[in-house]
Amino acid sequence: MSIGYINGKFISLDELVLPLDERGHQFGDGVYEVIRVYNGVPFMLNEHLDRLITSSKAIKLPITETIEDFTRLINEAIERSQLKDCNVYLQITRGIATRQHLFPEVPVSISMTVRPTKALSEEVRTLGESAIFHEDERWANCYIKSLNLLPNILAKQTAHEAGCFEAILLREDYVTEGTSSNVFMVKDGKVYTTPLSKHILHGITRLAVTKISQKLNIDLIEKHFTKQELLDADEVFITSTTSEVLPIVKVDNQVIGTGKPGEMTKKIYEQFIEETI
Ligand code: PDD
Repeated sequence: MSIGYINGKFISLDELVLPLDERGHQFGDGVYEVIRVYNGVPFMLNEHLDRLITSSKAIKLPITETIEDFTRLINEAIERSQLKDCNVYLQITRGIATRQHLFPEVPVSISMTVRPTKALSEEVRTLGESAIFHEDERWANCYIKSLNLLPNILAKQTAHEAGCFEAILLREDYVTEGTSSNVFMVKDGKVYTTPLSKHILHGITRLAVTKISQKLNIDLIEKHFTKQELLDADEVFITSTTSEVLPIVKVDNQVIGTGKPGEMTKKIYEQFIEETI
């Protein structure tokens, strides 16, 4: 059963709970995490919570909860939902106060939803997905998982309207990341991904792939690459909590490699699934 949580109370998802003066919806003044639960266990929960704390500190949210408090809360929500495979969406905003730009002196709002996972189809996994390139129009602090996702959703919608799954974002001709994913390419047996900086989200699935590469003795190189280098790659894949490791076989209508999901992507995906069991 899908369930919700807001400021100390578990609720049903259709309950109306927030007053109009809530900074999440008035300013996008908050941060969030999306955590995947496999067989009742939240995947890489500590890493997600570390990132949540980093994001909260970066925007000066006065949270008093500890990582242990969030862990308890998330596990209770999963238990109450009785869902085995689900997604937890956790959001913290600067709280409820009459609209004004300055920080109010009120407690933060913590809310959460737990919903069943909508897994990608087998067809998508075997055929791969397509993407477009799109200018990265976001701000300078994309490492913060902030609620302000307007450039991301506009680019994602543009991709969707072009019949594609994702938009690969470009900053001065270099790939940063996807609208809701990190981007990898494979060339001559080596895997490349954009280095961590303030310009990209430090993806948890990206981190999982770096660990998998070490385990499988795969050369993974963190290096900036251009639009053309990506088009010339043998394989491209994206990573995220919701897509896991997903092959991209066409970008801007140009076929990548053989046009089919490659062996390296398959190997990394299979190991990723191993790690979730
Ligand atoms: N998005 N880059 C961006 C901009 C993202 O929004 C996401 C995830 C990622 C991948 O991060 P992770 O592997 O930690 O999920 C990269 C989530 C899933 C979302 O907004 O729904």
